[in-house]
Amino acid sequence: MRERDPLTKADAVLALHGKVLDAAAQGTPQGATQWQASCALLAPADLPGRPARPELVEPRSLQRRSMSTPQGRVVLLHALAHIEFNAINLALDAVWRFANLPDAFYADWLKVAAEEAYHFSLLRQRLADYGHAYGDFPAHNGLWEICERTSGDVLARMALVPRVLEARGLDASPPIRARLKQAGDDESAAILDIILRDEVGHVRIGNYWFRHLCEARGLDPHAAWLALAAQYDAPRMRGPFNFEARRSAGFDQAELDTLAAQDAAAASESAARRGAEEK
Ligand SMILES: [Fe+2]
Ligand SMILES: [Fe+2]
Repeated sequence: MRERDPLTKADAVLALHGKVLDAAAQGTPQGATQWQASCALLAPADLPGRPARPELVEPRSLQRRSMSTPQGRVVLLHALAHIEFNAINLALDAVWRFANLPDAFYADWLKVAAEEAYHFSLLRQRLADYGHAYGDFPAHNGLWEICERTSGDVLARMALVPRVLEARGLDASPPIRARLKQAGDDESAAILDIILRDEVGHVRIGNYWFRHLCEARGLDPHAAWLALAAQYDAPRMRGPFNFEARRSAGFDQAELDTLAAQDAAAASESAARRGAEEK
């Protein structure tokens, strides 16, 4: 996780995950585990390992460009590569930071990290097809900031990272994919398909562990979610939502109804504000 070079990091994560899979296939001696769950590690000062570029800027200062131009698509692909690079760090952070969880927790998040490394490598290659590299455009640090904010509690981490950030990716993916297709960039659209397929799995893993931890702490998952979203200042969820993907990622109907109701309330609030401004 401290590795700064994105490609070296991605390759190392894939290799580490491969080792774990090999060991699991060979079988471990009875009672032995590949994970030392009780081992609490201290945070090194240089987390997360990341390259000197991209330059990190305020989200507001990032430009949006039309996807009908190659330049616009490059900026989009770069933004997606940045998300995937951060996602490697976020998944690895879940693996090392939280002690005393079941072995399956660590195996799940290492698998997620490996898939994020794969997503990053696909986008990195696609950027190269356009003559660009990761680091060529500025980016924001919002994902890592949420990772840091939730570093003290694994339940908050599960609530905000997979169930908010990664779930937002499920919503964002279909319209972006459609615009890439419309612009004739089928190769990039195909990458979005792979990412969406895998991200449903990441959110499902997040939902599984969120519920598991709620149960272990005797918490109702719905009430716990609302409390954590308020306590940790979760980013507001705005529609349109990809309900189908969210459902297959394990959100239940009550959660989807809450999401839709919050979005409707936010929409009517901003309509009322606009109306007041016009008067
Ligand atoms: Fe990803
Ligand atoms: Fe992910």
